[in-house]
Amino acid sequence: MSGRRAGRVNAATHGLVVDALKIYRKSRKSMDIEEKYIVGVDRLIPRPDLALEVLKIAQDSGGTVADLAKKIEQDPNLTANMLRMANSSYFGHMREITSIQEIIIRLGYDMVKILAITSASAGILTSPQEAYHLEPRTLWNHSHACAILAGIIARYAGLENNYTVYTAGLLHDIGKVVLNKPLLAACAANRTDSRFSSILDLEHFMLHTDHARVGRALLAAWGLPESITGPVGGHHATEWGKAAPLPVRIVSLANFLVESIGIRSTLPDVYLFNVEEFLRENQPLPDVPNFMAVMGRIMEEFFSRFGETDLILA
Ligand SMILES: [Fe+2]
Ligand SMILES: [Fe+2]
Repeated sequence: MSGRRAGRVNAATHGLVVDALKIYRKSRKSMDIEEKYIVGVDRLIPRPDLALEVLKIAQDSGGTVADLAKKIEQDPNLTANMLRMANSSYFGHMREITSIQEIIIRLGYDMVKILAITSASAGILTSPQEAYHLEPRTLWNHSHACAILAGIIARYAGLENNYTVYTAGLLHDIGKVVLNKPLLAACAANRTDSRFSSILDLEHFMLHTDHARVGRALLAAWGLPESITGPVGGHHATEWGKAAPLPVRIVSLANFLVESIGIRSTLPDVYLFNVEEFLRENQPLPDVPNFMAVMGRIMEEFFSRFGETDLILA
């Protein structure tokens, strides 16, 4: 099991010696830098317009089931994916769902939002991200695992709005898709044998920003609310105090757990995860209500639900 201590990045292929990597932690007007990377990003990452519209209609109290179903059915891929997902055991072993109307009526608006954004994100996150040494599907598997785990942790923590935590978990590393090419180019231009203590240190040295900040800027530009962009921007925060909003702590915790499990492009039949060993090796963790008390149960539920991942890709 790889824990927080195993997070060193070999920079032999990446960058210059630097003693001042922590500079970025000092206050800085950074938004301009993130904006620079998301200008023209629509060519790189197709904006999930339909999913965003579905979220908007589902949010709007005036929107009807028929409006929502009509919007979703404009896209045969989205419709097929949503039906496949709704019928997977991850969403409960219910009798077969055969229409979008049925999904909305039986599973509710929040589930429709989850299904739409998951389906739209799968296409964006499956490509390889070479600068991060991520093979095809690895980022998707990691992101989807983080979303499922964040949703379960949120439920045990008594957090009402599971949909936003799930979505933040799903999209937390989307900034890597934006920064992949710039980071590759910067690393090629600045070769060195030095080591960076984390991928964030490398990103800040090479690009003066990081994937969490860029991801947050991208999702804000797409019109997603602060309840989603906040946890995305804060998922690598290391201050685990209660001052950080609970959704930020939950997504950070889920991301850290999923990294520790070591989810790759292909998924094994069985995962080995020892709660006692994990706790011995990794302290402190973000403070999340109930998590320590029921960690074993949470991880068990996560592994059984995550087994459905393959089903939801077209
Ligand atoms: Fe990340
Ligand atoms: Fe991550």
